[in-house]
Amino acid sequence: MNEKTFKITNQESGKDLGLERKDAVLGPSVVDITALYREQGVFTYDPGFGATACCSSTITYIDGEQGVLMYRGYPIEQLAAHSTYIEVAYLLMYGELPTQEELTGFDQSIRNHTMLNESFLRFFNGFDHDAHPMAMVSGIVACMSAFYHDSTDIQDAAHRDVFAHRIIAKIPTIAAAAFKHSLKQPFVYPKNELDYCSNLLHMLFSVPTGSYEVDPIAAEALNLLFILHADHEQNCSTSTVRLAGSSGTNPYSAISAGISALWGPAHGGANEAVINMLEEVGSSENITQYVAKAKDKNDPFRLMGFGHRVYKNHDPRATIIRKMCHRVLEKLGREQDTPLFELALELEQIALKDSYFIEKNLYPNVDFYSGIIYQALGIPKSMFTVMFAIARTVGWVAQWREMVRDPETRIGRPRQRYIGPAERNYIPITNR
Ligand code: SDX
Repeated sequence: MNEKTFKITNQESGKDLGLERKDAVLGPSVVDITALYREQGVFTYDPGFGATACCSSTITYIDGEQGVLMYRGYPIEQLAAHSTYIEVAYLLMYGELPTQEELTGFDQSIRNHTMLNESFLRFFNGFDHDAHPMAMVSGIVACMSAFYHDSTDIQDAAHRDVFAHRIIAKIPTIAAAAFKHSLKQPFVYPKNELDYCSNLLHMLFSVPTGSYEVDPIAAEALNLLFILHADHEQNCSTSTVRLAGSSGTNPYSAISAGISALWGPAHGGANEAVINMLEEVGSSENITQYVAKAKDKNDPFRLMGFGHRVYKNHDPRATIIRKMCHRVLEKLGREQDTPLFELALELEQIALKDSYFIEKNLYPNVDFYSGIIYQALGIPKSMFTVMFAIARTVGWVAQWREMVRDPETRIGRPRQRYIGPAERNYIPITNR
């Protein structure tokens, strides 16, 4: 890549500073500002990091203007059409599509690590049954560092591999255990003969009193949703995993921090918020009123599932999920969920014709339709963000592995623009 130099000039001192430009393989170049403070005594200012690259990465590429998403160079549309979640997990982790032998070995390793340490299951009994599943999952994942001392040396490649396989394998079991605890039902153990998504459905929905057959359509729908949610560049939760991991903390704690960040309604919590919003809108007659609320600066209401920091055109994942909705609802015979889907479609059509949404480049994102499919699969709203966390775990793991091995990695420590009081003297309480 050709390296060029950006010149900036300090108006007061007239001092020129050449800032090195580093070009990217795809997308915007970056200006290396590491010398800026040392040479010019100033910080850059970018709340929300909308124009700030925190790292160099080879994993996922997004073009927000063109609505492009690629994992290791493969367009998401092709992976959605031809791949499986486990194959995508291998691709994100190791950088290349696996051979049949590599895929079989990886898949078997994941299947062999799905069971939880029995002491772990007792941890769930410490939660009330009405605890939000995301609270249970983030807490239990953080506790993994208390059990797995054999995989916390982040400088040891073997430890990093054991951690990666273990967390990818166990996150569905932890998620299902949280769901069962919220239902006051017994935990269901994983079955290693089932594929990743079928095993999750088995652990979510089977009960000891009867047999449970996994619906292949449901497994196929989950597999596609998980591919679409697997990674997404330096989003809020991934950046959290990288920042936490940059201190050298154990990887389970870093992933737990990512789960907590994902929970927010502005991020992964939006899929749950979308269904709440659609249920509040209720019917087509109310759409105009709610679109007006979303546009009203004095009204905190936002159209959940709309807008994105990066996509200023369509979110390719939303396009794929929207197409999938009809097929899945029909195949699952879940016509009763169709009204909510029809309402979402109508809301999207009205919003996309409205100048406010057009001018602000607000389009449906990945969360706008995903909840409709999760609901059709019998998964309650409180579990929607947990499903997102299961899928995104491999993305967090891949990004964490890249961060740990990146020679440019230093502990993340942003600065600030101080606008508080200048120095002043202490006043004894009797004089205040
Ligand atoms: C995910 O980063 C990722 O990659 C995330 C993700 C991933 O895979 O990891 O893609 C997953 O988090 C998707 C986003 C899910 N969140 C939502 O659907 C919540 C609703 N959306 C918004 O809160 C918002 O659009 C964000 C958080 C997604 C993006 O926020 P930004 O980039 O900080 O944009 P902003 O809040 O500055 O909004 C810009 C303008 C504002 O108006 P002005 O102040 O310029 O007048 O657009 C308005 C906002 O008020 N706006 C909305 C809106 N989203 C933005 N107005 C109404 N409804 C909305 N949904």
